[in-house]
Amino acid sequence: MKVVYSIEDLRKTVQTWRKSGETIALIPTMGALHDGHLSLVSIGRSYCQRTIVTIFVNPTQFGENEDLATYPSDFIQDKKILEKANVDLLFAPSVKEIYPSDFATQISVKGLSQEMCGAIRPGHFEGVATVVTKLFLQALPDTAIFGEKDFQQLQVIRRLTADLNIPVKIISGPTVRDADGLALSSRNSYLSESELKIAPVLYSTLKSAAQAIKANNSNIEHICEGALQSLLTAGFLSVDYFDVRDENTMMTVTKIKGAERIFCAAHLKGARLIDNFKL
Ligand code: PAF
Repeated sequence: MKVVYSIEDLRKTVQTWRKSGETIALIPTMGALHDGHLSLVSIGRSYCQRTIVTIFVNPTQFGENEDLATYPSDFIQDKKILEKANVDLLFAPSVKEIYPSDFATQISVKGLSQEMCGAIRPGHFEGVATVVTKLFLQALPDTAIFGEKDFQQLQVIRRLTADLNIPVKIISGPTVRDADGLALSSRNSYLSESELKIAPVLYSTLKSAAQAIKANNSNIEHICEGALQSLLTAGFLSVDYFDVRDENTMMTVTKIKGAERIFCAAHLKGARLIDNFKL
């Protein structure tokens, strides 16, 4: 696996592949890799001849009081994992390479970015949208793969790709879970042993709420309120939202028509967890 740190070196390799007619899949990550990331790599490989993984802990998507300084990172381990997964290229730029001191541009996706995690974490999706747009323009891949655990992020990226006519096909990968149902996330490493016992309740609560909604479509608000309360009873400290939303607009709905998901963000002491479930 080739490891490059500059946009120039990334482009040189991409150009060589393009000259020999090879297709390219991009998998943007912030490192601290787990099986969820590896599933995105294998999806990328099934679409394209070459795979590029990026590791960049993007400072602009972290709020002031968030975990930028402590975000888990193990570059040597990540490199080994990617080598074993036969990734062709790892792009690991520095903050200066991505955001030179005179950097002044921001990509903002209206509407979608203001709901749910966007409302709770102002500026988060602008940071994501800006860095993903840059990575697309730097690597010029045919496809890019993103996980469905971060479903709102996926839709923000789909919107910006369509709106800016970026010729990259966005593919989503299903959420990868532990045997107990907990969605894999780099931030799970923040959870204590006792919190790891509570965390899977998020997924089981999403599933029970989905069943209840299917049985009683008109009572969505009431079912979501009950589910939120049961998360608090299970030991979550607070719940940012437990909502049924249209998966394209991210707006709340009162009836299930076929394109909805339940979305939840809830706090344990160690970490804020997000998950979603297709209705
Ligand atoms: O999902 C992530 O890891 C990040 O938000 C992404 C897409 C790599 C942008 O920094």
